[in-house]
Amino acid sequence: MQKPNKRLIGQTCIVTGSSSGIGSAIAKSLGKEGANVVINYHSDKEGAEETAQWICDNEKCGQAIIVKCDVSDEADVKRLFKTAVATFGTVDVLVANSGIQIDHPLHEMPLKDWKKVLGINLTGQFLCAKEAILEFKRRGMRKEVSNSLGKIIHMSSVHEIIPWAGHVNYAVAKGGLKMLMETICQEYGPEKIRCNSIAPGAIKTDINKDVWGNEEGREKMLKVIPYKKIGEPDDIGSVASWLASDESEYINGTTIFVDGGMTCYPGFTQNG
Ligand code: BGC
Repeated sequence: MQKPNKRLIGQTCIVTGSSSGIGSAIAKSLGKEGANVVINYHSDKEGAEETAQWICDNEKCGQAIIVKCDVSDEADVKRLFKTAVATFGTVDVLVANSGIQIDHPLHEMPLKDWKKVLGINLTGQFLCAKEAILEFKRRGMRKEVSNSLGKIIHMSSVHEIIPWAGHVNYAVAKGGLKMLMETICQEYGPEKIRCNSIAPGAIKTDINKDVWGNEEGREKMLKVIPYKKIGEPDDIGSVASWLASDESEYINGTTIFVDGGMTCYPGFTQNG
């Protein structure tokens, strides 16, 4: 993990889906920057507690609280923001990270699994972004902590540009996120709200453990990664805290791919 930089002192960050994996690593990384962190979970209470404890036990970190919420439910999302504001006074950074995969070939995809993935991975990010923008505007500029009115980071995927057979609901949600992020940038940039995405490639988390968790899967995965390394959640955590800080102030409306080169068509290495 990177050394603490203290770039987010006095700021409050909501990280959705931060009970495990990439979300947990991001929450810890933001905490180490001095931020107060709102840990959100849906079902993994223990994981959320572990993440919050890690932050609270580290005296160099900001504070942490835990809020259970289903990001696809508007009333729940409103409650998440209300709790954050009641506890810490405002929200400065949203990392909309919650995401799931329910995979089927398209012709076998039940409508409920299409809706569930779109509901969490796309609608959930819209609902959180909407509440974040409302809170940024309500609170107004705080130049003493940041040059931006607020920062939104969407957790996308390499599959916002790489089509993914057998995962159409997931790929469509991530493709939609690209337009959500870019439209927010265009619409709210003039108010000094910064909106960007991080697009991870293959990162070792529970979502893809069925692949990297065995030798055969690992080898297949490495074939599509020019850098020949499967990523770790901390690889995303360090990028997220930089992107939330004023060090990246002029970056707006961009997707940052953190993928070991997966988006550079490795299939063409000895082909085409
Ligand atoms: C998916 C993972 C997958 C990776 C690269 C991510 O967005 O959640 O399951 O390994 O993309 O394909």
